[in-house]
Amino acid sequence: MSASSALEMQTIFRGAMSRFTTGVTIITTRTPDGPAGMTASAVASVSLDPLMLLVCVGNTLATRNAISDSGVFAVSVLSQGQEGHALRFASRCDDKFAGLGLRTDHDLPVLEDAVAHFACDVTEEFAGGDHTIFVGQVVSCGYSVDADPLVYFGGKFGSLCDLSSHAQLAYDWQLAASL
Ligand SMILES: Cc1cc2nc3c(=O)[nH]c(=O)nc-3n(C[C@H](O)[C@H](O)[C@H](O)COP(=O)(O)O)c2cc1C
Repeated sequence: MSASSALEMQTIFRGAMSRFTTGVTIITTRTPDGPAGMTASAVASVSLDPLMLLVCVGNTLATRNAISDSGVFAVSVLSQGQEGHALRFASRCDDKFAGLGLRTDHDLPVLEDAVAHFACDVTEEFAGGDHTIFVGQVVSCGYSVDADPLVYFGGKFGSLCDLSSHAQLAYDWQLAASL
């Protein structure tokens, strides 16, 4: 494949993957200098017995080495309205954690108001091209049923459209109109 068609393929791949709608998470870990963290959408469930999930982290990122060194990480699933957190943790700003509502689980920082969170011990670390795949055994997790998740699609943040409640509204409206 020529260099230009490889680049074209990369662009098409990114566009195609951006159509795979995901949630948005903040992956956190600890370092001797304090907490480290980054925004990530490449997160997936792996196993129920034992409980395992995976995260894919770019090889050049500071958070990649921090996870590798500490052997632990947490995943906080962002809720609707937390786009600011997603952008902050996708940047290289000095103190990503300043002013954030945090709590601790498994000695790891977890965002307050997250839709869900998982605290993990790294069990395996695989090379995945220009990313590293960290498989984590889940040692603690929790979730809220009151918050809606932040959604990522086509490079933009969005929210869930609750089709069932829209359908119910339309039905109620039709019923009222027919009376
Ligand atoms: C919505 C969104 C999702 C992202 N998902 C990932 C991901 O899954 N893996 C990854 O390596 N980088 C991902 N990034 C980019 C990182 O967050 C970004 O490179 C960040 O600067 C890494 O922090 P660090 O350099 O302090 O380690 C994502 C960015 C955004 C905005």
